[in-house]
Amino acid sequence: MQNAQRFDRAEVVRTLHTRYENVYGGAATVYGAPGRVNLIGEHTDYNDGFVMPAAIDMWTYAAVGPRPDRLLRVYSENFQASVDIALGKIAPGKTGHWSDYVRGVAGVLEAHGHTLRGANLVIQGNVPLGSGLSSSAAIEVATAFALLGNSGLQVDRTSIARMCQQAENEYTGTPCGIMDQFVSCHGKEGHGLMLDCRSLDYHLFPLPPAVCLLICNTMVKHELANSEYAARRRECQEGVRILGGVLPGIRALRDVGLEDLERYKGLLTPVVFKRCRHVISENGRVQEAAAALQRADIDGFGRFMAESHRSLREDYEVSCRELDIMVNIAQEQPEIHGARMTGGGFGGCTINLVEAATAEEVRQRIALGYEAETGIKPETYLCRASQGAEQATH
Ligand code: GLA
Repeated sequence: MQNAQRFDRAEVVRTLHTRYENVYGGAATVYGAPGRVNLIGEHTDYNDGFVMPAAIDMWTYAAVGPRPDRLLRVYSENFQASVDIALGKIAPGKTGHWSDYVRGVAGVLEAHGHTLRGANLVIQGNVPLGSGLSSSAAIEVATAFALLGNSGLQVDRTSIARMCQQAENEYTGTPCGIMDQFVSCHGKEGHGLMLDCRSLDYHLFPLPPAVCLLICNTMVKHELANSEYAARRRECQEGVRILGGVLPGIRALRDVGLEDLERYKGLLTPVVFKRCRHVISENGRVQEAAAALQRADIDGFGRFMAESHRSLREDYEVSCRELDIMVNIAQEQPEIHGARMTGGGFGGCTINLVEAATAEEVRQRIALGYEAETGIKPETYLCRASQGAEQATH
């Protein structure tokens, strides 16, 4: 079984300082931002609903230092490649290059009036790419912290999260919600973060210290992930448009209850009805799961996770064979409190809550079971909830 390479943060920061000195000369300041796993509340963020993610101890770091001109020179340790971006000439649009995230963040920061200084950057991270753990939010947020820090600008974390989301929307063509960037900015060690995606009010819930976040990577990402994500957003908008005719004043599915949805079922196509039912019921589950956590009822929390997975599979139809296999195997393990797919779906990872004492053994069982059934060797990551973005002090 292949495991995630353990990430020694102090070591990475040291490497980045050295790399910066070798590539550009001089001293750098290092900023980092974490990826995230979503505990519950899937496909609710862009419906003004509730989510409960946690930042994880997989990070992207950006070493930064000033330049005298208006250029961003960016070296990616992961891609072993360098790119130049001219400040003042950045326009929205996707090129498909890894530097779109950096270009996007710089473009959006400047569009909001934060005039940036030229900078040299070295970027490195260990959030697995394209596996639903928000490697993109991590690079966006780390970049934003680095560029703002380098320019002597102070911006609050919520505004940073919003600008990073905008960068992802406008420069990578992904119509994502606010969840990933928000928790990458506001995460807290040992805590899940419940976010109201309309007001952006949030509440931090301590996770039981004996419980680990076991993340299992199916190692697949189906082609249709992006187009289906956009299609789900449209289906939700369609639901709001039609229900708005009989429920004046609703702005998003957040404003609709299950009883009203059932009452007006006949107005919706069966597909739109199912999409709405997922979102509305998922919003309820997040709130009930938060209450369970507050009572330290981790098995109760797990039952809402199971229900969330079922709803994502049957009503929202964003799961896939590999995710279902991984979740089924996990749900058969007596030591697992809860298991579900996490993130946008169509591949990527599952999240499992497991006691630290048995985590190692359980993850091996799940990995072997998954490989036996699919022929695919999964990666598994034993994580802890981590703090949000910060300047590295090492
Ligand atoms: C992706 C998006 C998030 C959210 C999830 C689904 O991770 O980036 O904004 O919509 O999918 O919950």
